[in-house]
Amino acid sequence: MEKYIIKGGKQLQGEVTISAAKNSAVAILPAVLLSDEPCIIDNVPNISDIDCAIKILTRLGAEVKMLNKSTLRIDPTHIHSDTVEYELGKNMRASYYFMGALLGKIGRANVSMPGGCDLGARPIDQHLKGFQALGADNTVEYGMVRLTSSQLTGAHIYFDVVTVGGTINVMLAACKAKGLTIIENAAKEPHIVDVANFLNSMGADIMGAGTDVIKIRGVSHLHGSEYSIIPDQIEAGTFMIIAAATNGDILIRGVIPKHLESITAKLQKIGARVVEYDDAIRVTGTGILRKTSVKTMPHPGFPTDLQPQITTLLTLANGTSIVTEDIFDNRFKYVDELRRMGADISVDGKVAVIEGTGHLKGAPVKANDLRAGAAMIIAGLAADGVTEIENIHYIERGYEGIERKLKALGADIKKISVPDQYIQKQA
Ligand code: EPZ
Repeated sequence: MEKYIIKGGKQLQGEVTISAAKNSAVAILPAVLLSDEPCIIDNVPNISDIDCAIKILTRLGAEVKMLNKSTLRIDPTHIHSDTVEYELGKNMRASYYFMGALLGKIGRANVSMPGGCDLGARPIDQHLKGFQALGADNTVEYGMVRLTSSQLTGAHIYFDVVTVGGTINVMLAACKAKGLTIIENAAKEPHIVDVANFLNSMGADIMGAGTDVIKIRGVSHLHGSEYSIIPDQIEAGTFMIIAAATNGDILIRGVIPKHLESITAKLQKIGARVVEYDDAIRVTGTGILRKTSVKTMPHPGFPTDLQPQITTLLTLANGTSIVTEDIFDNRFKYVDELRRMGADISVDGKVAVIEGTGHLKGAPVKANDLRAGAAMIIAGLAADGVTEIENIHYIERGYEGIERKLKALGADIKKISVPDQYIQKQA
């Protein structure tokens, strides 16, 4: 097992370049299956979720070549399987995109119910409702979702909840359905637009991505394409919060500032200085951290994937802040870890009340999931003393080179290996 050891209290300063969006990349790689020709995908993040998507593609019969450290050539022309087994699917929530992609490509899919971060109940009923409306039958047996259709046909689909995964999955399947599909109450996250742009670059006919009504006119053939993935909104937001939490000064390069508006607005309210450039954003601490209220919402609201990070920042602020988690049922599990560092937070269902104490103290903590892990890093960087973070494999699912990027900004962070034997003795 590996751990991060962070000596906190340093003001982080300098420049950092944001990697490609994980949640785009994990949809775009399965989407390549829909093409009748090879595709080249540029700006692919080097994270463990992508390793997992590549393993699945290879197992299905696609040929995946790494042309350089961030460019993949994927040839989907020799797919010979419709199955994503539990052993592979359990490691990554986004394995559900193989349902829509395989259904669109070959009219059938046999994919294990998805794994991923434990944030409370995460049903996929809306995905299945969408596939059914397009004419696919589905059964769930022994943890595998089996979908079959002799001919997908366009349909009018109204999602009961705004779902990122459901919106993308139905777009994937509908691209090659016969006729027009209309998705209402669609999610509007930046990666929805990115996936639609990629599909259109292969010859799909999708309009309205980024609004709550998406129209997809099915086509019979999708061709190869070269496409570059957008920067990661959540990684950028995490570094913005790191700058505020360490009273630092960070120029965050390679971002789309429009995607970061809800974070910019909150950080300015809390007291940080934020300056936007064309493709960069600079966050400078002012020594002031004020209380505020945050409610997570679908895009363009404040993203749930930055909720643990901003909650951590608010433990360092003056006064009582309230954070409401409106997307997931159970996304405050990391609060126990922050309490071990001296945070004063009470949680009642979906609401956390944070009594800002102005400081945190280093402690051994664990990452409960990807974004909770990012929150532990922020806490460790801002705390007095040493913080040890366990379960860092969660963090490496979604943050490319986080240790290297933080060191370049002046953080005192190192990764150490802990012999398994030692861990067992401590258990
Ligand atoms: C995506 O998850 C992201 N994952 C999550 O990122 C992100 O937190 C989430 O969207 C919200 O932005 C990927 O893109 C791979 P949803 P997803 O479907 O698709 C309910 C991260 O840290 N719902 O938008 O699973 C659901 O329970 C992660 O990078 C249904 O009820 O999220 C939730 O309450 C974690 N039925 C809400 O909708 C459904 O069929 C939103 O879920 C689908 C969802």
